[in-house]
Amino acid sequence: MTKYKFEQIPNLLVIPKRFSEVEFDEGTNSDVRQLCNNFIDNFDAYYDQGIAPVLTGPPGLGKSYAAAVMAKQLYYDLKVPVFWADTVTILNRLMDHKDFRSPDYFKLKDLIIKTPIIVLDDFGHMQEFSRSKELFFEIVNSRYASKRPTIMTMNHPLQKPDPETLWEYVANAVGAAVTRRINLMAGDLLLA
Ligand SMILES: Nc1ncnc2c1ncn2[C@@H]1O[C@H](COP(=O)(O)OP(=O)(O)OP(=O)(O)O)[C@@H](O)[C@H]1O
Ligand SMILES: [Mg+2]
Repeated sequence: MTKYKFEQIPNLLVIPKRFSEVEFDEGTNSDVRQLCNNFIDNFDAYYDQGIAPVLTGPPGLGKSYAAAVMAKQLYYDLKVPVFWADTVTILNRLMDHKDFRSPDYFKLKDLIIKTPIIVLDDFGHMQEFSRSKELFFEIVNSRYASKRPTIMTMNHPLQKPDPETLWEYVANAVGAAVTRRINLMAGDLLLA
């Protein structure tokens, strides 16, 4: 299978230091573990459908931790190129480019849009700048259109929300159009 594998490990996956050594253990929330294992065990099928886990829930649940465990398994065990992005940081890095036609800007955007798997950690903190909203939409929409799976995490304070309430909350944070795409890209791998 060569559709996403790499032969030589490119210097791509940079997981934040806090999560660089993570593994699932007895302390891991069982719903989180089941969902993540299901994704990894059936990765090929989920990859073809452009589906990846969207982990939502209260702060401290272990969403970023679980995303890091999956990123490491995909990258080191399955040899899938993975790019980790703290959402606010990556949007700011893109917006720091004064010239939106510069090769560096396109290189970074290409990495985010074209890497087989990316993690968008903590995507709910959308800034008010219309430029960052536009960029976030572009990233999600491009990956949605090309069926590239995207692991996402977002915190919310809701207690066991039903899906409708959750998606309404997400739409308030990031807008309805992008929310519809995130919903479809989560498939049955939504942790609420
Ligand atoms: N399975 C686990 N085993 C050990 N420690 C864990 C586990 N899951 C989470 N933790 C620890 O719990 C803390 C919170 O985890 P994490 O940062 O992943 O939460 P989060 O859900 O992403 O929160 P936020 O919404 O604030 O970003 C971290 O210090 C992390 O190391
Ligand atoms: Mg987190």
